[in-house]
Parts: sequence; C-alpha cells; structure tokens
Amino acid sequence: MPKLLIGFMGSGKTSIARLLDPDFIDMDQLLEERLDMSISQYFAQYGEAAFRREESQLLAQLLEQDRLVSTGGGVVMSKENRKLLAQADQVIYLAADFDVIYERLSQDKDHQRPLFVDKTADEFRDLFHQRLPLYEEVASQTIQVSGKSPQEIVKEIK
Ligand code: S3P
Repeated sequence: MPKLLIGFMGSGKTSIARLLDPDFIDMDQLLEERLDMSISQYFAQYGEAAFRREESQLLAQLLEQDRLVSTGGGVVMSKENRKLLAQADQVIYLAADFDVIYERLSQDKDHQRPLFVDKTADEFRDLFHQRLPLYEEVASQTIQVSGKSPQEIVKEIK
C-alpha cells in the first residue's frame, strides 16, 4: 500500500518524506525528469492544465506502488485525483498556517513555484483557503506542522 504526504506548497512534504524514508518518491522531481524541464518552464510553455494532466497520470501510477510519495500541493485540485486519494490507505496531510507558508516560499529562491510567483498575496491566500477543505476531504491523518520541528512531526506520523 502506498503512503502519501499531501499539503499546500511549502508545508514541508519533501523534507518530512526524506526523514520518514530516504527511498521516497517526490512527484515534482519525477515529473521534472519525465518532462525534461523544470515545473516553472513547463507551466510557462504548456500551461497549468497540461501540467495537471501529467500529474494525474503519475498519481494513478504511483498509487499502484508500495512506496512513500511526496505529492505536489495541487494534486487535490482534480475531483478524479481526490477520488483516487480517498481510496488510498494512508494519506497524511501536513497542515501549516498561511503565514508560515508565505514566509517559507518567499525565502525559497531555489524552488520557485509558478503559482506563488505569478499571484498577488491576496490571490495566493484565496488559493490556500480554497484548497484547505480539499486536503481535509482526502486525508486519513492530519498533522498540524506549524511551530513543530521536523523530528516532532515525524514522531507524530509514525
Ligand atoms: C503546485 C505545487 C508544487 C508543484 C507545482 C504546483 C501547486 O509542488 O507541483 O508548482 O499547485 O500547489 P510543492 O507542493 O511541492 O511545492
């Protein structure tokens, strides 16, 4: 059975996955390898809808495997994906406060998210609030991560 980490961009999915199992699969990284370009480049060239199709295809494949997966923050946007996720045994939602996320993403110059850089702060906050119920809908476990160390979060998951 696969185990999936979900949550908004900047909630720490990749860092926590690395601590839980160094052999984890990072969806964004795998997509970048498959698409042979960065996610930002792909968004700019083909648009978000094309990215979502690639993401959904990959999600369906990963759900067939027995691995820990760090998902992209937008994986819950599609109803089809949510249906698939809801059937998975372990879907762990890392829930972070908006201010923590905003600060983290502003600092993260190495990994620029197109949906962050292309939106105003208000638009980005709207996206955050729009997505919260979607993560909650599919989560089998919710961990509040703000103010906790990675080790504390890992302990809560295990
Ligand atoms: C996205 C989140 C990103 C990446 C892409 C779109 C989103 O992943 O998949 O930029 O829509 O929330 P992270 O959650 O790993 O930042």
